[in-house]
Amino acid sequence: MKHLISVQDLSRNDTLHILDTARELDRVTNGGSKLLPTLRGRTVVNLFYEDSTRTRLSFERAAKRLSADVVTFSAKGSSVSKGESLKDTALTLKAMGADMIVVRHPSPGAAHRLAHAGWLESSVINAGDGKHEHPTQALADALTIRAHLRPDAVDFDGLTIGIVGDVLHSRVARSNIFLLSSLGAKVVVVSPPTLLPVKIENWPCTVSYSLDATLPELDAIMMLRVQQERMNGTFFPSELEYSRAFGLNRARAASLPDHAIVLHPGPMNRGVEITAEVADGIRSVITDQVANGLKVRMAAMYLLIGGEVNVA
Ligand code: NCD
Repeated sequence: MKHLISVQDLSRNDTLHILDTARELDRVTNGGSKLLPTLRGRTVVNLFYEDSTRTRLSFERAAKRLSADVVTFSAKGSSVSKGESLKDTALTLKAMGADMIVVRHPSPGAAHRLAHAGWLESSVINAGDGKHEHPTQALADALTIRAHLRPDAVDFDGLTIGIVGDVLHSRVARSNIFLLSSLGAKVVVVSPPTLLPVKIENWPCTVSYSLDATLPELDAIMMLRVQQERMNGTFFPSELEYSRAFGLNRARAASLPDHAIVLHPGPMNRGVEITAEVADGIRSVITDQVANGLKVRMAAMYLLIGGEVNVA
């Protein structure tokens, strides 16, 4: 495997291999405190055309843990469009000798284009392409679910996982639906009809319009941010009504099974899709998701470009 663009390119075994490698790298680096020489002499470029906190920091840290040279290029604000400008950037990066490009871009397909247009030889990791995919976030979430609910099992058979909210605009939801179902979980999407993608019936999940009716069945619940920046119309009457119907508050969290965990990829709109009390409560594994993001990103880099390195 040279690129990581979509979880749909990963077989179940590929996914398990990445998750196992993440766990192993965490072990050999003592929870990330020790550097490994694996990517010494390699250059990783973070190319971010969209805002990011967790993802960008975590890719930077992951690359540094593996001793790579890291260059971060924040292209937000430029009037770049998908075609030619991306090509020009790619040619610049090629001239700089990038071994890996981590790209976040508002256009679905941008990472695929960078990887496959023939502009460069670098490996490409998709760090989020518009509302399409965000594979390393889904891997981080799978690692988190595994650690809490299936520490000794290989896959997720028998688990029911709810993904709640703005599925239409969420690359995190799309990547998770495909990844978690490929590991054997049953995925239930809970959303107002206006925030569901067309043809959701062809995705490997079931759909519910009632959060209250779904909660007692869930082993894990993943709340999604309402992505105002990707909306150019009104998808629900008001924030208050949205959070009344689809927000996770204390009363609702109480109707989850006792063992159930609460996830959110961040950034959170506290008080809209999740209350502060639940986000900071005992079921919340949100900070684990961040820590696991670092581990799976190290694993992805290690597996994609760590292989045939000549350590100087
Ligand atoms: C998400 C993203 O940017 O796709 N955040 C993340 O990467 N952890 C989710 C979001 O923006 O809501």
